[in-house]
Amino acid sequence: TIKACLFDLDGVLVDTAIYHFKAWRQLAQSLGIDFTEHDNERLKGVSRVRSLEIILEIGGQTLPQEQMLALCEQKNTEYLVDVSKMTPEEILPGVEDFLKALKAEGIKIALGSASKNAQLILERTNLLPYFDAIIDGRHVVNGKPHPEVFLKGAEALGVKPEECVVFEDAVAGVESAKNAGMLCVGVGQPEVLTQTDIVVKDMTEMTVERLHALQQKA
Ligand code: G6P
Ligand code: MG
Repeated sequence: TIKACLFDLDGVLVDTAIYHFKAWRQLAQSLGIDFTEHDNERLKGVSRVRSLEIILEIGGQTLPQEQMLALCEQKNTEYLVDVSKMTPEEILPGVEDFLKALKAEGIKIALGSASKNAQLILERTNLLPYFDAIIDGRHVVNGKPHPEVFLKGAEALGVKPEECVVFEDAVAGVESAKNAGMLCVGVGQPEVLTQTDIVVKDMTEMTVERLHALQQKA
């Protein structure tokens, strides 16, 4: 039986992708790199440092480690200007209803995010009380697609991987869930999220019935 749901944050519960993009584009511009919204897809689910590496690759540049860390700091300061103004209105459609339904059924809820700002975002949007465990960028050594973030989530909840369903909008995140041996619901486009068990447009399409039906399918 399914005992827990593990949620990615950015792009699943809240739409912070636009703030990440704004901050990265500004930084790319300062380096003389043209960074487009299309390129931005590659940064989803990926750690902060890896994101900068991808941007430098696009611009055909390399920088010493120390300078890269300074640029990551700079990007995050810019990003936090927007995040610190976030409100519960920025929770994506259907999210709160689904979290409430899970609680009512006694299904455990954890966060599995690459972001080091996850706690702050959950606080700003009043989502924090729903979570039984939070595993984020501060708790993992290996980024997605490595399964660490979701395996640690299951462990914190005291459930087995096969009792978990992961919700993900990024290809790297879906791979991470599958590497962990978990069921996975893709949030977004089926053409992009091909390794998932089902794909939904957003959380308005999710119900507890659909969740349990996943296991019969698997
Ligand atoms: C999420 C986002 C990525 C972001 C990463 C790290 O996975 O999808 O775009 O790079 O978190 O976020 P942070 O807030 O630590 O910079
Ligand atoms: Mg995401």
